[in-house]
Amino acid sequence: MKKRVLVLTGGGDCPGLNAVIRAIVKRASQEDNWEVVGSIQSFDGILREPKEITILDEKAVSGIHFRGGTIIGTTTKGGPFEWPVKKDDGTWEFIDRSDEMIEELKKMGIDAVISIGGDGSQRISKALQEKGLNIIGVPKTIDNDLSATDFTFGFQTAVQIATESVDKLVTTAASHNRVMIMEVMGREAGWIALHSAIAGGAEVCIIPEIPYDVNKILDKINQRFDSTGKGFANIVIAEGAMPINGDTVHRSSNEVGYKNKIFGGIAYKLQEQLFDAGMQWDSRVTVLGHLQRGGVPTAYDRILASEFGVKAFEMVLEKDFGKMVAYRHPNIISVPFDEAISKYNLVDQNSYLVKTARGLGINLGD
Ligand code: F6P
Repeated sequence: MKKRVLVLTGGGDCPGLNAVIRAIVKRASQEDNWEVVGSIQSFDGILREPKEITILDEKAVSGIHFRGGTIIGTTTKGGPFEWPVKKDDGTWEFIDRSDEMIEELKKMGIDAVISIGGDGSQRISKALQEKGLNIIGVPKTIDNDLSATDFTFGFQTAVQIATESVDKLVTTAASHNRVMIMEVMGREAGWIALHSAIAGGAEVCIIPEIPYDVNKILDKINQRFDSTGKGFANIVIAEGAMPINGDTVHRSSNEVGYKNKIFGGIAYKLQEQLFDAGMQWDSRVTVLGHLQRGGVPTAYDRILASEFGVKAFEMVLEKDFGKMVAYRHPNIISVPFDEAISKYNLVDQNSYLVKTARGLGINLGD
């Protein structure tokens, strides 16, 4: 009987997930005795009755490397440790089904699991590994906020989409003499904002790592307009940004089992603050949202995702379990889960990237 590796994608999707799945399957098909099985919507596919699993062979993954999303689906809710169950009174309770799931995987003849996911998924993987599951993590997120890896796949694609959006906003800003404020994703990290502001030539870039002073931003904007009101300015602001002595704009979700903060709206708040501070120029807001997560991955992300997929399967062969794949230039390595989830990767204010932004005259709100 063939050995079996289970593959699943968890957390928010990002461009490149399918390229990882394809790489795992292609590498596994070079071995005589391995079969790849996909679980639909992370571990939910195993926990549902009936199970939702699918055989991932070369035919199933043919040509998927440039497709966004994930062919096996994903979820940001629930999971084996917090499975939602509706009670008679209509409220929900969350139960731990991890032991039952591990037993189920044994019955299915699963020898190893590759879990492709962000921070939350890596934490689940670590807890399952501590219960004896042979599991390997593959990091993904457009936010690029995992510190164990130089880059996550999906990030470059998000930056490309955000940069092209700045390019578009520049021409309309110039035509109308407007101040354009574009909000990008990234949670508590300013990577997408900073990269797209530099690449797109924005005048102002606001990131969570540097709380902003609205008056400093207004000074920069005013320098961009002449006495007749001719001029324009482009601002890129990260969704997790906040004013000095202020808070982020976020809310909680009413979706059952969804625990993350939902960011969104800081661009509108900044616009209001600019008007309150005396801004005279016309202004419009664009919240880029999930456009940053969809569509075709860039070549860079396809390559990084493929490297991660091949490495993950080679770790299965080497029984290098309890670890996450990571990119440390120029190598693809494996790091223990503990290290993988120990800290976030935030923008270092002393980095050359920040220095570059300042060197280009980009105002960082400080
Ligand atoms: O972590 C990736 C990300 O796209 C963040 O940048 C964003 O804040 C969040 O996910 C949005 O999550 P959801 O798709 O669940 O609304």
